[in-house]
Amino acid sequence: MSSQVIPLPTVPFLDLSAMHAQVAGPLDRAWHEVVASSAFIGGPHVERFEREWADYCDTAHGVGVANGTDALTLVLRGLGIGHGDEVIVPANTFVATAEAVALAGAVPRFVDVDPATLLLTAEHVAAALNPRTAAVIAVHLYGQMADMPALLEVADAAGVAVIEDAAQAHGATWKGRRAGSLGRAGCFSFYPGKNLGAFGDAGAVVTNDRGLADRIRSMGNHGRAAGAHHGHAVVGTNSRLDGLQAAVLSAKLPRLDAWNDARRAAVAAYRDRLDPDGAELVTVARDATPVHHLAVVRVRDRDRVREVLARRGIQTGLHYPVPCHDHDAFRRFADGRLPVVEQAAAEVLSLPLFPDLTRDQIDRVCAELACATTPERRAHAV
Ligand SMILES: Cc1ncc(COP(=O)(O)O)c(C=O)c1O
Repeated sequence: MSSQVIPLPTVPFLDLSAMHAQVAGPLDRAWHEVVASSAFIGGPHVERFEREWADYCDTAHGVGVANGTDALTLVLRGLGIGHGDEVIVPANTFVATAEAVALAGAVPRFVDVDPATLLLTAEHVAAALNPRTAAVIAVHLYGQMADMPALLEVADAAGVAVIEDAAQAHGATWKGRRAGSLGRAGCFSFYPGKNLGAFGDAGAVVTNDRGLADRIRSMGNHGRAAGAHHGHAVVGTNSRLDGLQAAVLSAKLPRLDAWNDARRAAVAAYRDRLDPDGAELVTVARDATPVHHLAVVRVRDRDRVREVLARRGIQTGLHYPVPCHDHDAFRRFADGRLPVVEQAAAEVLSLPLFPDLTRDQIDRVCAELACATTPERRAHAV
């Protein structure tokens, strides 16, 4: 009798289907309402979500925009930052952070990050400040906030703004204060895979600065002056949040905290089960309560480990295998080597993570990772 090999089920990197099943009713109603009202651009659903998102982030104003990149670009432009200015950006981020600076006409000044959290620190900012520095973008990467009080102290003393790139940190806090509420403005992406994701591209800016919110709203709507359909006060762009996306986001928002709790529980389970000699999760700072957009470990021989996991049905991601300053698009802004970011780029590996990831799936990932990272276990498993 021939023995049949039963393939192991794949553990996906991300699976949104269970989340969407949980909000199927509200999503259905929301889409029908938007279609019935034809409020596709602007209108009550956008206004409602802007209010809800500003409240959620503990800020006075929320402005819906087309995506997270635009959120950053519009904040920079709204603060008058552009040609001749430098903006300090951690090199360990998605390129959109640097892209926004370049799109605004300014120069991204890439800096290194903390070796434990892989986030921007006040020391790196202090070392990079110079008379051209106009702003600092604190990127709350992987779902963990950077140390905003320390960053604000250095930036305030130098008279430069701190902008929060909170695209991966919906609901994260630092000593209880929400991501997006501490700097001049917080910028969010609602790309479908984010902790709060739309059904397409979407983004928002939150701020306590009324004037900045008004300027961003105007610039994102072709530079229209408030209330004037045919009066274009500044050269703007088209960066508006769709009614359909706003309705989806409002339908999902009541579940966000529960989904973030589930992510925290999944990462705690990873922490319990992972062998730190083989794979170590990125450190969480004492004052941070992260929302774990990503579960990032550091491993030796990362590309081989990733390949072994893929063969065993474990999907993983890389955030980010190339530091910003090493991309062709941004090399001209590079200013020396950044050893921590460069080493991290070779070691980081993002494990499967989503609110409905099961304990069995986590056990499987940890067991496969242990085999892939420990030579003796690997030999035993063959
Ligand atoms: C840290 C960070 N900043 C900015 C962005 C840009 O957001 P979007 O893709 O919505 O333009 C992303 C999206 O992946 C991100 O992760």
